[in-house]
Amino acid sequence: MTSTYYTSDPASFPEPIDLSHHLSRSTRAREASSVKRFYKYFAIPGIAQLAGGLPNDKYFPFDTLEAKASHPNRWKPTPNRPVDPPADDPPTARLDKLTVSDGKAKGKNKDKNKGKHDEPPASRLLVPHDSHTPDPLHKIDLMSALQYGQAQGYPPLYYFIRQFTRENLHPFVPYKNGPEVILTCGSTDGFSKTIQALSNEWSAEHDPVNERPGLLCEEYAYMNAIQTARPRGLNIAPVKIDDEGMLAKGPGGLEDVMENWDFSKGRRPHLMYTVTIGQNPTSGTLSVARRTEIYAVCVKYDIVIIEDDPYWYLQFPSSSPGVVNARPNKSSGFDFLDSLIPSYLSIDYQGRVVRLDTFSKTVAPGCRLGWITTQPALAERILRITETSTQQPSGFVQSMIAELLMGPSSANDPGRGGAADGNGWKVDGWVRWLEGLRGNYERRMQTMCDVLDRGRSIVKTGRRRSLSFVADSDDEWAVVEKAQIYSFVRPLGGMFVWVRFDFTTHPLADEVPHARLSQALWVFWTQKPYLCLVAPGSMFAPTPEIREKDAYNCVRLCFAACPAEDVKPISKRFVDGAQAFWRIRKKSTVDKLLEEEEVEDFDHVAGMAVLTSMC
Ligand SMILES: Cc1ncc(COP(=O)(O)O)c(C=O)c1O
Repeated sequence: MTSTYYTSDPASFPEPIDLSHHLSRSTRAREASSVKRFYKYFAIPGIAQLAGGLPNDKYFPFDTLEAKASHPNRWKPTPNRPVDPPADDPPTARLDKLTVSDGKAKGKNKDKNKGKHDEPPASRLLVPHDSHTPDPLHKIDLMSALQYGQAQGYPPLYYFIRQFTRENLHPFVPYKNGPEVILTCGSTDGFSKTIQALSNEWSAEHDPVNERPGLLCEEYAYMNAIQTARPRGLNIAPVKIDDEGMLAKGPGGLEDVMENWDFSKGRRPHLMYTVTIGQNPTSGTLSVARRTEIYAVCVKYDIVIIEDDPYWYLQFPSSSPGVVNARPNKSSGFDFLDSLIPSYLSIDYQGRVVRLDTFSKTVAPGCRLGWITTQPALAERILRITETSTQQPSGFVQSMIAELLMGPSSANDPGRGGAADGNGWKVDGWVRWLEGLRGNYERRMQTMCDVLDRGRSIVKTGRRRSLSFVADSDDEWAVVEKAQIYSFVRPLGGMFVWVRFDFTTHPLADEVPHARLSQALWVFWTQKPYLCLVAPGSMFAPTPEIREKDAYNCVRLCFAACPAEDVKPISKRFVDGAQAFWRIRKKSTVDKLLEEEEVEDFDHVAGMAVLTSMC
């Protein structure tokens, strides 16, 4: 138990452990920057700047950046702790009673409010050229943001995020002095830098196998991360999952993988890549109890946990009403944040967690902005990597987000923030925004799942004696059977529903290989009247074995992207397509569906991966 090592008193927290033995050769070789020692010279009043190679900010072609930006309360939240619903009350109905859909009016008032809600209230955001603010922590303007800057991030935004991370997101991180943050160009960038910091490149031609590093991941994984690691020669080692996520124990669980490691494939892995909330693609959401078990195995085998958590704010308590997460050891100051399952950081008494956050799902993917949270010594090494790669995220984005959240620093500052009064959203507004987003995605999820729930089974007529219900007593061979065609679990978080099909119940189950049926079903959905593109499970199989053995049974549905009012009819089309496919009795129909793909050597899995840009 981790509680052996610390109490809730920060004075009892241990120092983070030294992870330098895990650093890659190139990361170890990077020299620490001595720039801090020079700050005092920069600060000498009246000193002429002849040293730096900075372009002149007066020649930047942008005088200001302006935008219309939402108020933080645009979307309606859902409850943090829903109570048990009556058994016949589906979750959507309950959410509808409490809130309205996507902030739009329902029922009678719909038309009356149409105009208003087409254009929801917004503020005029303005980043000035010069904020007339000397304090770099509050100076948000183009003369500073578009200039060369610091690798840890644009100072005002860096400090805002650092404070928010340490005080509100993860108020309890049980190692001495807590974590450091560094801004990134999104989680993809954060992961790439972390992998660079913590693994050497390995090649079968040049390096002995006992030096091959490994990466543990979920049995179904977010493939962009795997594709970052694989070309570096990392051995991808999947760990069995259940509805929550990775298993700590039992066959295929983390302990089993590590204990029975096959050294002919390389070193025992020292890195784990995991998505613990609303996992992409399975939507698994890992409890604190399971995290504690997994963390203990990571301590035993000296594994660094890379926690990629873009969906952390999208936790859906209505999928497990009545289950109340334990109160955190230390409050964030916000009921919403306190109600969420905390990060691995909350039990990280050794400092072996690298957490990746992103604005991609909370503002927009095109921002290319996120941050890493980890122990200071490792953050410093990643900072060194940043200095010679991205340097820092784009100043356009950093200043817009900083102005949105923080607003002008004084009456003298011509900037305007995201709130109605021209101030920034501040921490309260940001949390309110996150609550509203959770509300919208939670309603969508329940809408889709209600439709999927009703379509799980199909009524089959058949001529087998053994089945449960005899339909027509005059003909003892005619039977009606309810066959389940797929199963799924209502997600506790994220943007996806993972649907597992049971091809053994298909009328052609004995004649056509199930992987082939699955491929034909995928094509069938793309045709009229169903017109649905779904992500085949094979897209998320990190190894060929998983791809061949099981992945074809699964598809991932994303309820986030389509217009709110279309979630229900589109889900219905998906269900109708599946049901109609289960009525196909001729093998030739399946062959015909796949004809075009076979002629053109069409790989729908690779194609879908490109189309969805690996997200
Ligand atoms: C698990 C996971 N990690 C990372 C990303 C990408 O994040 P970013 O846009 O911050 O690079 C996604 C996007 O779909 C994701 O699902």
